[in-house]
Amino acid sequence: MRSFSNRSFLKLSDLTGEEIEFLVDLSMKMDGYRNHNAPCAGGNMALIFEKTSTRTRCSFEVACADLGINTVYLDPSSSQLGKKESVKDTARVLGTMFDAICYRGYGQERVETLSRYSGIPVFNALTNESHPTQIIADFAVVKKTFGTLKNVTLVYFGDARYNMGNSLMVGCAKTGMNFIAACPEEYMPDKELINICNEICKTTGGSVSFFTDPLKAAAKADVIYTDVWVSMGEPDEVWEKRINDLLPYQVNMSVIKASKAKIVLHCLPSFHNLETEIGLNVYKKFGLKELEITDEVFEMFSENIFEEAKFRLLSIKGIILAALTNEYYDPFAVRL
Ligand code: CP
Ligand code: NVA
Repeated sequence: MRSFSNRSFLKLSDLTGEEIEFLVDLSMKMDGYRNHNAPCAGGNMALIFEKTSTRTRCSFEVACADLGINTVYLDPSSSQLGKKESVKDTARVLGTMFDAICYRGYGQERVETLSRYSGIPVFNALTNESHPTQIIADFAVVKKTFGTLKNVTLVYFGDARYNMGNSLMVGCAKTGMNFIAACPEEYMPDKELINICNEICKTTGGSVSFFTDPLKAAAKADVIYTDVWVSMGEPDEVWEKRINDLLPYQVNMSVIKASKAKIVLHCLPSFHNLETEIGLNVYKKFGLKELEITDEVFEMFSENIFEEAKFRLLSIKGIILAALTNEYYDPFAVRL
């Protein structure tokens, strides 16, 4: 396995299955780990968030604090990025000042450009196409539950064309898991990415498949996964069609009853009640009190869902540590 030292973390297809599992194991080892020796002391990381965040931003900030890394947070209104300065020029500036960059935003090409031109490790904190740090946390919960990733079947309900569907599909293919998307045909991931995953599965023993019948898909699941139906940055006009198309794929008690899944995961945030501004607006317009997952199912599986959120910090800490410590990082040598 290649060292992670000085490498960017941009998308899961850049990693081997072994490398993904290494980071999953490292996340599990990070539980309770607060390194007071600050192994990355003196480091500086720019956190660029062009989209909002609770979990990912807090995870990067807390992980950096625990590892001795100073952070500078840039939101869309407090930098020149994209408006007055190109991503390429910004990368060349930040590369002279920082040891690493964390980026959340729109197209994947932006995070790739930052990495190419900054000369320092760049961590993808979510793009439209990919959310790789999330998958490391998700798989840590899967491995903790099943003791392995191999042959575990994860069924994703909802819009599988976006960051979560894509990244889960690639992650499953690489680690020998079975990925099933339960969605209408037009919500299936990009054909080219499916072909790449099918090729990967030939060597890992994993599989990718698609079901338009939600209950048949549920019957196959060891893990049920869902995400919001409308992602950050999408226009409000898409709600009506999304609701009509995806309501049959809501994770509700019929899905749970049709399934033997041990865990239900959700990357969060979630619209499972009326306690959010968006949830309330959707209710006023479309009369639905809960969207991608019902409140009953959400609360029934809240222990896994919030453990998954906890693993965001642990996995991001491991990813930063692996990239910013100078030597090959052996997870089994972590002093806890
Ligand atoms: N799951 C996730 O990325 O959450 P945030 O948007 O709060 O960072
Ligand atoms: N698909 C969601 C994921 C949030 C973590 C979004 O991009 O908004």
